[in-house]
Amino acid sequence: MRSKQGLFVTFEGGEGTGKSTQIRLLADRLRRKGVDILVTREPGGSPGAEAVRHVLLSGAAEQFGTRMEAVLFAAARNDHVEEIIRPALASGAVVLCDRFLDSTRVYQGVTGNLEPSFIQNLERVAINGVMPDCTIILDLPAAEGLRRAKSRAQAEAQTAEPDRFEKEELDTHEKRREAFLDIADQEPLRCRVVDASGAPEMIAEKIFSIVEPLLPIHSSRVKETGSA
Ligand code: TYD
Repeated sequence: MRSKQGLFVTFEGGEGTGKSTQIRLLADRLRRKGVDILVTREPGGSPGAEAVRHVLLSGAAEQFGTRMEAVLFAAARNDHVEEIIRPALASGAVVLCDRFLDSTRVYQGVTGNLEPSFIQNLERVAINGVMPDCTIILDLPAAEGLRRAKSRAQAEAQTAEPDRFEKEELDTHEKRREAFLDIADQEPLRCRVVDASGAPEMIAEKIFSIVEPLLPIHSSRVKETGSA
């Protein structure tokens, strides 16, 4: 069912771990090599899913409970997969996605206390066979991540208010960090944990060394003659 032409890489981790910066650095580097890149994010990434994103992050769905939120994340993910990710992979692109199914496992499953079978059923419907080839888990102590997320929010005047999930207590963020590390232990072939505490350029180098060997064949051909 799943195309083998492209490469699907997801980025996961708590708040303030630098996912968007690292995605940008990797995308720039791969583009310079002539690789066809699609950068996307969740919740969102397709028009339908972006509409649901607003409902989720504003907190408008919070009053209806975690189960409702989980179903909405799954609805958004399925739209994103079918409208954007699957066609991009079928065309041979490398898809870099900011958060994907592991965020639901962690935020709604572990810290949202939803039962694993419910999360698994939703996941199956949401991804419909499109599993990431590689998941980079950016790892940082929760307090440091929150500190970074706060200073970023202050720098961006319009988003100074924390979103629905950023508002939660430090120990919840710490539990999420542990939950991401547990997933990495359970799925070592798909997941790679990267220490997110160093200089962005060093972290980018580490991520590149993980992703480069996985690039589709046509991309490595470009690499042989490419510069950077
Ligand atoms: P976003 O503004 O994209 O920030 P971040 O930089 O943290 O990715 O916010 C997305 C928020 O939604 C984030 O707090 C995690 C949460 N989330 C879930 O709870 N479940 C999910 O399945 C996804 C994709 C995100």
